[in-house]
Order: sequence, then C-alpha cells, then structure tokens
Amino acid sequence: MTEILAADEAGIARAAALLRAGALAAFGTETVYGLGADATNSRAVAAVFTAKGRPHFNPLICHFAEPDAAWMHVLPSAPARRLAAAFWPGPLTLVLPRRPESAVALLAGAGLDTLAVRVPGLASVRQLLTAVGRPVAAPSANRSGKVSPTSAAHVLAGLDGLIAAVLDTGPCPVGVESTVLDLTGPQPSLLRPGGVTREAIEALIGPIGFNVRGGEITGGPRSPGLLATHYAPHLPVRLDCDAVASDEALLAFGDALPGRLVFNLSKAGDLEEAAARLFAGLRQLDAEGLRWGLRGIAAMPVPERGLGLAINDRLRRAAAPRRCKAPARSGGQ
Ligand code: TXA
Ligand code: MG
Repeated sequence: MTEILAADEAGIARAAALLRAGALAAFGTETVYGLGADATNSRAVAAVFTAKGRPHFNPLICHFAEPDAAWMHVLPSAPARRLAAAFWPGPLTLVLPRRPESAVALLAGAGLDTLAVRVPGLASVRQLLTAVGRPVAAPSANRSGKVSPTSAAHVLAGLDGLIAAVLDTGPCPVGVESTVLDLTGPQPSLLRPGGVTREAIEALIGPIGFNVRGGEITGGPRSPGLLATHYAPHLPVRLDCDAVASDEALLAFGDALPGRLVFNLSKAGDLEEAAARLFAGLRQLDAEGLRWGLRGIAAMPVPERGLGLAINDRLRRAAAPRRCKAPARSGGQ
C-alpha cells in the first residue's frame, strides 16, 4: 500500500524519513510530480527504474533545496550561476560537469560525467529536500512512456503499491516539466523545452542552441532520455487538427471546434493556463474517449512561442508512432 501524506509538517517529515531510509516517495513540484529517491543510494536509484518500468538507465535530475547545495555536486559556470540566480527555485534544469567527489550514485547520472541539477519551486518540496539533506533524484512519477502526473491521484493511478508514499502537494501549477539546458558544450543547448521559456533564457545569456529535426527535438548523444515516443495516452493523437471527426475527442486551445468530447486547454488562449492543464487534459480525454469507444484524440494547434514550445514538444511525443503496443510500451521515461 502506498501511503498518501498531507503536505504538512508531519507528512513532510514522514516523506523525508522514508527517502533517507532508501524508500521511494513521490512529491509534487511546480512542474509535475516526481518519483523521489536518495540520489546517493544506488539501490534506491535502481528501484526508481524498476518502479517506473523504465527500460534503460536514462539519467535522472537531482533536486536540491538551495543552489549552493547543487554546486557541491556540479561545477557551475558563470552563465549557470546567472541562470540559477534568475530562475531558481523554478522549472529550469542545468546540465553541468559533475564534480569527481560528488556522492551522487553513478546510476543516477547514467554513468555520464555530467549531472542534471535543479532547485524546484514549491515551498513544500524545498522543505522536504531540506529535511532529507541529500540530493534527491526524481524523474516524473509515471510508469515509463505514460503521460506525466500533475496530481497525487495521477501518481497513484500508475504507481499505487509500487512506491512507499506520495506527498499530496495539490495540482502542479506549471504543469509541464522543467526546461533542460546543457551548459557543458561550447554553446548552451536546449535539450528539452519546459517551464522556463527559451526567450527568457536567451534574454539573460544570449542565443542558445535548439536542435529540432522533423518535429522531434534531438539533444544529441548527451541526452539519452529524449526519446520520440513519450507522454503517450492509449488513444492515438492527431496534431494540428482543423476539424474533428465524430469518433474523435478534441484537445482544444482557444475557440474550440465543435466536438462530442472536448477538453479546452485554455479558452482564453493563455499558454500558461494551457501548460498547467495539458497532462490532466490528455489523461481525461484518453480515459473518457476509451470509455466512449472513440478512435483517437485530435489536438488543435498551439502557437510555437513561450510555453507553447514545451506544450508542442509533449504533444508531438504523444503523437509519435508507437514502437510497440500499449501497455508494455518501452522507450519513454
Ligand atoms: O520537471 C521536471 O524536470 C521533473 C520534476 C519531477 O522535477 N522531472 C523530470 O525528470 O521530468 P525526467 O527523468 O522525466 O526527465 C529528465 C530529463 C531526461 O530527458 C534526461 O535524459 C535529461 O533530463 N537528463 C538528465 N540528466 C542528464 C544529463 N546528465 N545530460 C543530459 N540530459 C540529462
Ligand atoms: Mg518524464
């Protein structure tokens, strides 16, 4: 049985004790729920891959309560410090050279000589991280390849009984994962669009590389976790629709097309509201669409700016051709 913990002092203390003892505990962040493990405990880290059913060892992000705690494990460049000062706590992950003396388990970094670090934005998760007092590795708290969770109920839908606890911090305010920025190469490179926009990063540190190929973002060999099929509902997803078939559900944005089963990401066309509602919308249309015997989900276009980059990235992955049939799909995170 997975314990459901309230995000109060007692719940946070219990989640911290479980993590320190090597158990797995999920918790909300401002982006999505994370499946936490003590990053210095390789058995706990290995258990994360097992619980998620993750087929290979993609590197995990290490979470810290404060920037200075992160800098004990990675070597921050000047741009890294500037970005951290501007966006932490918040939805930005920095990939930096790992310090050789870091106690983070090699498995957490998938054996790379780099480490992804972030200071998440919710007060409750920072209290938790302070109480743990160690780096916490946390991928999104979903089974591999499935839609990321933005509520404790989403976490339980996939992982109930497989993890010790979930700290219920309520719905995630940002709703898409953190932006992953690689600062180890000659030019900063955007590996995953996310909660901090490319525009905001470029305003601070100048142009960054962003490698898009055929609608799929490729981070190069340094980013083994960026696979095309990901965030996949059971129903197929069709992008950029301008009409809805009678046997399709509609993921709308702005003025909705007429449809039988509609989830509007944002009637007002607000990208922040849309990001916050994206994964809940995909889950809802998937569940109800299956119940109604619908054939797929049609998604209306979302503008490719600001948080629209992250939303479109997740939608393209949800729509990518499946390598094998659900539910035993491999390849996502
Ligand atoms: O918002 C988030 O980032 C959430 C919350 C829980 O913090 N976490 C999350 O973790 O999305 P995950 O494991 O689903 O995604 C981590 C991404 C993967 O694409 C992985 O390949 C990349 O970060 N990554 C991690 N370490 C890396 C490294 N050393 N070099 C390059 N990419 C790395
Ligand atoms: Mg994930």
